[in-house]
Amino acid sequence: MRSQVRVFVVLLTLGVLCGIAAPGQASNEADVTYYADVLPIIQDNCQSCHRSEGLNLAGVVAPMSFMSYAETRPWARAIAQKVEAHEMPPWYASAPNGVFSNERGLTDEEISTILSWVDAGAPAGDSADAPAPLQFAEEASGGWSLGTPDFVFQLDEPYFVDDEVYDLNISFFKTLTEEELPDNVWIRGWEFKTGAGSVAHHMCGFVRGPSPDGEVAEADKGAAGAGYLLTCIAEGAEAVMLPDGYGLELEAGSTITYNMHYHKQPGEGSGVWTQPEIAFFVEERPVEYRVINDSIGNTGFELPPGISDYRIGSGRTFEQDTYLLTYWPHGHLRAKAARYTATYPDGREELLLDVPEYTQGWQETYKLAEPKLIPKGTRVDVSIWYDNTPDRGARFDFSPALTPGHGPRTDDEMSLGFIGYAVAVDAETSTEGEN
Ligand code: HEC
Repeated sequence: MRSQVRVFVVLLTLGVLCGIAAPGQASNEADVTYYADVLPIIQDNCQSCHRSEGLNLAGVVAPMSFMSYAETRPWARAIAQKVEAHEMPPWYASAPNGVFSNERGLTDEEISTILSWVDAGAPAGDSADAPAPLQFAEEASGGWSLGTPDFVFQLDEPYFVDDEVYDLNISFFKTLTEEELPDNVWIRGWEFKTGAGSVAHHMCGFVRGPSPDGEVAEADKGAAGAGYLLTCIAEGAEAVMLPDGYGLELEAGSTITYNMHYHKQPGEGSGVWTQPEIAFFVEERPVEYRVINDSIGNTGFELPPGISDYRIGSGRTFEQDTYLLTYWPHGHLRAKAARYTATYPDGREELLLDVPEYTQGWQETYKLAEPKLIPKGTRVDVSIWYDNTPDRGARFDFSPALTPGHGPRTDDEMSLGFIGYAVAVDAETSTEGEN
């Protein structure tokens, strides 16, 4: 999208240089109104995040609501600027286009409608022209954006994040009782509530099958990686619903790990009570493919200070035919760009994801609209580029004098390419002795 902007600027410059008039705005500019023309665009592209607070959307809820004319009007200039610069709605992948189900963006026509409206003084128009207000799933489901879950597991006891806490990584465990989950089920969706507002920097959820003695082994307690990963949420993350035919198995007697990273300014009165929850959506239809959420990562790096373009890469060869579902590149403040590529057994390369301007504030999971089949022997490489210079340090509030390595704190770095996939074999036969 950014490259489209650049092309347009070049054309415009050429046009001006050659004395050709730039294309004019729509001639009926004065007729563009909020209710008739702008509200439908805002409903479709902005209100999912720009609405009242209290909804469960991790970091995606914007600080300003655009639900009514009165709320939107004061932001008209800023809206024009953000949509013209392609900064809103937020979308950080430059490629590939059209393959992600959660891709956001406005058409050139929608952008010019908004610009014409703002140029004309952002008139309201006739409220009789307004489309029906959007209905959000949260309103009927107790705050879950995917609708009413089949069950919600909340940590048994609330936990107090002390006044002194600056950065805290901690895992909590909950073993499901027979009453809570009597039988094994397949799940296709899940959504987290950190129960800690802005103090939660991220939350990861893991599920571990039942252990023979019903207890979490002491040795596993420190490892967030116990069992399989559901997902992690951080700023900018949404809930997950798998495509038809895909699922994860949740066994009776499993233990759920709530791995929390709290981050705040310490000080008297800054402590908060927290009690994370995970909602599950059951798949009643037969599940064909068992989903694995994993990461292709590099944890053995040291990021030298003062370098503006340091690449950390990692790769994995998939040994069976595999369907790819999601990508989530994860770095911290110094991470500035990310890319996933596939190298097929015949040597052909394909760009799976390109994020030329990565920012920690938008931890986007890129969801493929259609699962992508890669043949066995395909290697997927993840590269993340880092800028550890004073320039970026000043913009993103980190010390460029440090040599960060892999770690969970905000001052550490990470180079993880999360990837959701399923081996292309029937789920019922992919693991022995189940169902
Ligand atoms: C995925 C969520 C999301 C969507 C969709 C979204 N926004 Fe935003 N928007 C945010 C968040 C979060 C912020 C505050 C942080 C920031 O500025 O990045 C924001 C900030 C803004 C701002 C304020 C900038 C300033 O000056 O502070 C404007 C204006 C804006 N958005 C316009 C829009 C418009 C117009 C749309 C739809 C065409 C849109 N946004 C869609 C999440 C979203």
